Formats: sequence, structure tokens, C-alpha cells
Amino acid sequence: MQILTKFKLLQSFNIFKNLNSITSRSIISHRFMSVDTISLQLKKIGLNQPDTIEGSNPQYNVIDVFRNYITEELHKITQVEKPIIFDSLDTPKVLDQGDLLLPIPKLRLKGINPQQKSKEWSELFNKGKFIDEIKSQGVFMQFFFAKDLLFKLTIQDILNRKSDFGYLPIGEGKKAIVEFSSPNIAKPFHAGHLRSTIIGGFISNLYEKCGWEVKRFNYLGDWGKQFGLLAIGFKRYGNEEKLKIDPINHLFEVYVKINKDVLDETNAASGNQEIAEGVDVSEQDDKKIISNTNEEARQFFKKMEDGDKESLKIWEKFRELSIEKYIDTYARLNITYDVYSGESQVPLEKMKQATKLLEDKGLIHIDRGAKLFDLTKFNKKLGKALIEKSDGTSLYLTRDISEAAKRYDNYNFDKMIYVAASQQDLHFAQFFEILKQMDYQWAKDLIHINFGMVQGMSTRKGTVVFLDNILAETRDKMHEVMQKNEEKYKQIENPEKIADLIGISAVMIQDMQSKRILNYEFNWNRMLSFEGDTGPYLQYAHSRLCSMERKSGINLKQLENANLELLTEQCAINLVRTLAQYPDTIKKAYKTEEPSTIVTYLFNLSHIVSSCYDILWVSGQEKDLAIARLALYSATRQVIYNGMTLLGLTPVERM
Ligand code: ARG
Repeated sequence: MQILTKFKLLQSFNIFKNLNSITSRSIISHRFMSVDTISLQLKKIGLNQPDTIEGSNPQYNVIDVFRNYITEELHKITQVEKPIIFDSLDTPKVLDQGDLLLPIPKLRLKGINPQQKSKEWSELFNKGKFIDEIKSQGVFMQFFFAKDLLFKLTIQDILNRKSDFGYLPIGEGKKAIVEFSSPNIAKPFHAGHLRSTIIGGFISNLYEKCGWEVKRFNYLGDWGKQFGLLAIGFKRYGNEEKLKIDPINHLFEVYVKINKDVLDETNAASGNQEIAEGVDVSEQDDKKIISNTNEEARQFFKKMEDGDKESLKIWEKFRELSIEKYIDTYARLNITYDVYSGESQVPLEKMKQATKLLEDKGLIHIDRGAKLFDLTKFNKKLGKALIEKSDGTSLYLTRDISEAAKRYDNYNFDKMIYVAASQQDLHFAQFFEILKQMDYQWAKDLIHINFGMVQGMSTRKGTVVFLDNILAETRDKMHEVMQKNEEKYKQIENPEKIADLIGISAVMIQDMQSKRILNYEFNWNRMLSFEGDTGPYLQYAHSRLCSMERKSGINLKQLENANLELLTEQCAINLVRTLAQYPDTIKKAYKTEEPSTIVTYLFNLSHIVSSCYDILWVSGQEKDLAIARLALYSATRQVIYNGMTLLGLTPVERM
């Protein structure tokens, strides 16, 4: 019975969500999927696609067209197998070193002099219409793409595909579950949850951009002893009105109060300070607690676990109201979940089955009534894992095991990603190893994407934070910053809304700008600054390009026929060469699973375009030149837009 009601609840949210996802995501990402604009463009110039090497996407990635061409031509000269050549072509760190780079030692040829070969091959190479120049530098060959061809292919492709530019079909036909955010009801939404939300949102988008079908999961901490406490607490301190208006903060408030009751009772009974102020009693060993309130709560939770309808009712309400509220908050970050799962959703029998399976395999031993799995046999670092407590109740780990199996049964995923803090590295390593020992062949398809800590994230009022409070505070601070520039401020139509969006980008960019695993300091001033590599700076770069489009007086339809040969300046060349790298950048981010790959690229692109403004004027120019330049700016705006939305930001058009 208990499971049935829980499922109904779950379903009601899923239906709601599925409607959402169909209207927003799938349509966008599949719109241009079969359009072979690059091949058509090549045809117009009288060229064919070079032979497609496996792993390349020349219908979607202009650089792959050149990669394939270089591979083919180098193969003719060197006889080295094509895949080896293809894989040896690197992207140079700086544009001065070419568009692609071949370090000859990577070809693993024996008995050759790479310096000499670099010279020799550079001379022999048939540049055709694809390559302008090859520089032989030591053991490297630097390839510079034919500017005209690169311009036509890149700019037209961006203007054609619009928000689909960057899409790569590498994961087509495959399904991924990405689980992220996963806060605990009635407990603070801490920095770890914020990072999981931001990074997980990005990873989901990224997988979709790479052709995967993605299911977004939120696995709420909505079960366990604290719910007994919360229920008792609500009887004592709860307020229905407040619960409706602000469930997340109100439940936390109640939880803090009831927690304090248990603390006070325990400390009074023992005659001294047994448990420190502020400690979460639900995470303490029951033996340490001497409290009637706690006993009441324990009994209440027991009833919940036994499926008592009356007791579950109140929990259901807490869960439902919290989810409703979370849906709104996540929407501000452009995140919609496919499934609100949670620790409560794991059926008890499934957990019993899992434990039994391990027992049958002789992997479990009993220690003081508790069931343990000694994982050191498989990996020293994994230690012993507690599978079942002595009172028979389940644990975080056991719930994860059974939930994973349930998800596989329901979704048949090809990959499942958990985005959670590196503090949980051991948990996930144990959990994955256990599934492997249970002989689930899909255990190898589970990945933990981890990240470091955030220091100093707190609101003005105190240290406890919920996502909503952080976003509200960022918006207010951003609003203050904006008001300082009176002239500009007056021109903004809906400053509150803009402040909100820019504030959100500030928080998100700060989070995604360095390697995930690094810790960082939550720094209000730096993050909200318009200077330096910040979210507001990126928003500014985007809105400036929007304003250029608006003020140009040029109908954007005309850009399709722009005469790109008029773009000859060095900064224009650098800009196009960088724009062309966007699909490659997506691929790199997909490999590293690092948002910073995209963030770094976007800042680089923004710096290059800003160096163009003084040189490449649009206003006051002769029409054809103005159109050509606007095509370049418009393509740049599109790529910045695509990168920002991939990160989960909402690019603003005016600020
Ligand atoms: N609710 C957990 C916490 O706040 C995070 C859950 C991570 N996901 C998982 N499947 N264990 O610590």
C-alpha cells in the first residue's frame, strides 16, 4: 500500500514534467538534424566531402572536413594508416600555430627523422582549395585552413543551424540518466547541492547536444529518521499557512526547533553538554540520545516504514509541497526534471532482495547484528560497507543500490551519471563495486562526476542557505550594481528581471570557470563585477552583439547572401577561426566532462570579438561591407548564445 501511494505521487509529477520536456527540448535539438548544409555549401564551391574517417562528423563540424582532407592527403604521401593520422592531428593552443597541428612523432614511425619529414611533407602536400599554408616547425606541421573556404563553411553553417550549431550526433540512439542536485527535504540546500545543480544541468545539456536521450533525475533526501522528527515537530511548531507559502524554509525552521528539543532533553538528562549545539540529531547514534521526543519520532518513522497510511500522509504533503517549490526554483536555472525520485521511492522488498543476493553469494558477514560487506578483497581503499543496520533498517548505501537497479529496469540506460561532491567519492566507489559484485552487467556504465567544495557561501542573514535565498540575494546585489550607472539603468525595461538573470549567470559562471575538482571561494564582489571573466561580462558581450544587430538597420535575412570575401582583417580571421572551433570544443567538453572547457572558450571568443569592435565597423559602412561584417557578428552572437544556454544561462538581449 505504502509503495502504491508513493508511486501515484511520483507519477503525477512525471506527467507534469514530461509535457514540459516534450515542448521545450526535443523539438529544438532535432530540428536540423538531417540538414547537410556543409556538404551543400561545399558543392556550391565545386568541392566534395573528403573521405569520412570514423569518429569524424563532417556534416556537423567544419573542422572535421579539414581533418578528413588533411588525413587523406597525408596518407597519400606517407602511407600511414588514416585513423592514425586523424588521431594525431592536434588543435594548437594559439592561432599562430595554425588551425591544426601534426606532431610527427605521434605517427609512431620508426627510423625517420621527424624534422626532415616535416619539411619534406610540407612541400609535397597537395593544399588544394582546403589549405592556404603549411608551416614546418621542428617536428611539427602547422596547417592553416583556406580562409575563403573556412569563412563560407563556418559562417553559413552557424547562420543556418542557429541554436543547433554545435550539435554532434555521437550519442544518437543512446539513453543517459543524469542525477543531480538531490537536496534533502527539511535540511539546508548547501553549496554541494548548488554545485551539483549547476554542473549536473550542464552535463545533461551537453549529453543532449551530443545526441543522447537524457533523463534528468532529482533524487531527494526524503526518507529516514529525520522525517519522524519533522512530523512530531510539525505537530508542535508547524503552521499550515506558512507551509503553503514557503514550505522549504518553514520545514527547516520546524526541524531546527524540534532538533533543539531533542538536544535539550538529552543534555538535561545527562547533566552536561552531551551533544553540541546545532548538531543534527538524526545523524547521531540513537544510543547517545536520551529524549522522549526522539523516541516519539523514532516510533513515528517506524510506522512510516511499515506503510501506515495515516503517518505517511503528512510526509507526502511535505514532499509534495517541497517539490512544487523546487520546480519553480529550478526553472529559474532553466532546469526541468524528468523524474523527482528520492530515497523514499526505493521499495523495501528490492532492498531485501539485494541483501539476500549478496548473502547468497557469501559476500556478507554479520558483526554485532549488523550486515557488512568487506570490499577490501576487491580494492583495499574501499574498506567495509555497512549494508543493513542491526535493527534491520536500510541505509543510504542500500537505497542507492536498489534505486539503481530499479532505474535500469525502468529505463534501460546506456549510461547513468551521478553528479555529487567529492566528499562522496568513497560512497560511490563502494556502491559501484557492490553492483559489480552483484553481477549487474550495467554496473560499468555508472559514473560519478565529482567536484570540490565552495567556501564562504552564506547569505547576509546567516549561514543557512537555500537555493532560493542565494538567488534572491544575488539578484538584489546585482540590482544595486546596476543602479550605480543611472543613465544605463533608466533604459532598461524590466531591471528586476534582468538583475535576476545576470545575477544567476554570475553565480553559475563562478562555479563553472575552473576545473570541477577545485575548491573555490564564493566571492560576491568578484562574481558580480562586469570586468574580468565573469557572468555579467559574458552577458554584456552577448547583449552588445544583440544591440549591434538591432541598430544596424539590416534585415537579418540578407546575411545569408553576405559576400564574406570582404572580410580580410586579421581580427575577422581570428574570429572565424575561433568560431569554427565550437563543435570541437563541445567534443572536448564531452570527453573531459568539464564545464570550464566551454567557459574558457566563451571568454576567449568574447575577447576576440571585443578586439574587433574598433576595427570592423558596421554603421556608416558601404552596404555590402556592412552586411558581411554583420554576418560575422551575428554568427558570433549565435555561438555565444549557444554556449551560454548550454551552460544553463539565459542570455539577455539588453542590459
Ligand atoms: N541527498 C544527498 C546529499 O545531500 C545526495 C544524493 C546523491 N545521490 C545519490 N544517488 N546518492 O548528500
